[in-house]
Amino acid sequence: MARDEVDLMARQVLRQNDRGTYTVPNGSVYPFQWNWDSAFVAMGFATFDLDRAWCEIESLFSGQWSDGFVPHIIFWKDDAGYFPGPAVWSSGRSPPTSGITQPPVAASTARILWEHDASKMHEMRLRRLFPKMLAWHRWFASARDSQHIGLPVIVHPWESGRDNSPEWDIPASSVDVSRVGAYERRDTGHLDERMRPTRVDYDRYVALLQFGRALNWDHERIGRESPFRVVDVGVTMILLRANRDLLFLADKLGLDDAVTELRSTVDRMERCASWLWDDEIGAYCSRDAVTGRSSQLVTSASFLSFYAGVLDSARDVRLLNHLSRISRSVKFLLPSLDPAVPEFDARRYWRGPAWAVINYLVGNGLQSAGHYDWAERIRADTRRLIEVHGMYEYFCPLSGLGIGGDDFSWTASIWLHWARQ
Ligand code: GLC
Repeated sequence: MARDEVDLMARQVLRQNDRGTYTVPNGSVYPFQWNWDSAFVAMGFATFDLDRAWCEIESLFSGQWSDGFVPHIIFWKDDAGYFPGPAVWSSGRSPPTSGITQPPVAASTARILWEHDASKMHEMRLRRLFPKMLAWHRWFASARDSQHIGLPVIVHPWESGRDNSPEWDIPASSVDVSRVGAYERRDTGHLDERMRPTRVDYDRYVALLQFGRALNWDHERIGRESPFRVVDVGVTMILLRANRDLLFLADKLGLDDAVTELRSTVDRMERCASWLWDDEIGAYCSRDAVTGRSSQLVTSASFLSFYAGVLDSARDVRLLNHLSRISRSVKFLLPSLDPAVPEFDARRYWRGPAWAVINYLVGNGLQSAGHYDWAERIRADTRRLIEVHGMYEYFCPLSGLGIGGDDFSWTASIWLHWARQ
């Protein structure tokens, strides 16, 4: 399909999933506002409607709690087609929200929007958003680092945004699911269950939700006491990059105290990121904060160190060797999991398929680190996947087949913002 036809389709997908002030990831499977989806969606809107792009981020932050936390879902309207809905989370907020968060991409988006147009009108919006973004980033450092690792833990696999990645299998195996009770999944009513997380995964998701709810969503306590506490390489690298982008914005806005604070946050995170380096594997891997064990898995998130600006020539060579090896075993980069491990499953969600949003983050990082050929290869693969198959939720890295939900907002957005170029 010609590039401008795909452009039209992508804009059409965003318009069709636009609910006025927020955008749903997909009208049937995901009928609410999702946190990092909105951050990506705003990048797409920015290519043709900058005002609407700012609005997407503003509506996300209108769901922020007073402790700085920004929820992973805002339930602007109830919808029986999704489990677990607002009554299950029972966060007691208005609008109702979930009680867990997601990868903090929003500040990086704010920088992109600002770079589209830094006029006075948009500066006002940025100034209003700035303290909210800073409060969220501070929340990660305070509520999610009770062990003083210098990096935040996630307390639910959904917080990684990479729900069923095998990185969570061992840490989540200690979650007690014996009192979960009966519940009805809705995702497998819309989609083929072979492409979705398993029943065991879901029991753990629900048990961890119930754990947080029983603590009344007291984030400090959950951060200390949750049976699932993992330092996710994805969230870590995304937060580090978001802190750099916030620092850039603080500087532009002349906010000197924030500049000083963010400089020291960035320095600290940069030093501490080494805790995730697994020298035996030769990659950054998520690590269980409860047991200290590395997941020993190379996932698409392992390559986000470039995006975070965590650079080290010896380590980078080893990472690029993995990338090169992986590229020889799939047709399309970037599979969410190393195809050489037994957990690899080309169609099951975050255990193999390629996702446009991760491709963008990794491609962007490789580009800024000067690895232009790899960046271009990942972009070209993403472009082909979308051109040939459409705006799918994710893609089989072996055949290119689009799977999961169709007409997906973040895939359309990544096309407009990055893949089409
Ligand atoms: C799935 C994805 C998550 C995304 C959500 C909405 O749960 O794993 O990353 O935010 O769907 O698209």
